[in-house]
Amino acid sequence: MRPRIRLAAPDDLEDLVALDEVCFGSSAWAEPSWQAEFDRLADDRVVLVADEGAAVGYVVLLVPAAAEDPVDLLRIAVAPAERRTGIGGQLMAAALARCAGRTVLLEVAAGNELAAALYRGFGFEEISRRRGYYAGGEDAVIMRWQEDHE
Ligand SMILES: CC(C)(COP(=O)(O)OP(=O)(O)OC[C@H]1O[C@@H](n2cnc3c(N)ncnc32)[C@H](O)[C@@H]1OP(=O)(O)O)[C@@H](O)C(=O)NCCC(=O)NCCS
Repeated sequence: MRPRIRLAAPDDLEDLVALDEVCFGSSAWAEPSWQAEFDRLADDRVVLVADEGAAVGYVVLLVPAAAEDPVDLLRIAVAPAERRTGIGGQLMAAALARCAGRTVLLEVAAGNELAAALYRGFGFEEISRRRGYYAGGEDAVIMRWQEDHE
């Protein structure tokens, strides 16, 4: 079944906290961080949920009001058992559809090949690196998407 992609609602909070922990382990956002994201839904955050009855994936965007400011894709994840079935792509397509005419930036660990493959597939290009940015010394790769580069 293809999940439905929809905007997050306040009562998704608990499910997303749990799913984030499964997807990110020790780097998961704690409940207060998720609450802070939800508190900004009316302001500059967009959270999309892949819904199969239960939440199986999500993407979090920071969308500044000023159109010339880049959108930051803060997080995207799919439940481990549901990966490689196109849900990450569905979430990314829905996220980028909301970013017409804008630049989108994201940061990914240099060793996260699965995520990088997804991003490249949507036309993201590496623009810079932060050497040794992550704990353990892994580089962060900054990638950029612009609609006309698709
Ligand atoms: C990155 C992530 C969201 C991808 O979700 P997904 O649902 O597996 O992605 P899709 O099935 O839509 O795959 C989309 C494309 O990404 C690439 N891709 C995904 N998994 C891949 C794999 N195991 N090997 C190679 N390419 C892969 C492919 O280009 C794929 O297209 P394809 O299906 O035509 O081969 C998922 O792996 C995840 O949640 N990872 C853990 C969290 C994370 O690291 N998030 C990113 C940092 S914020």
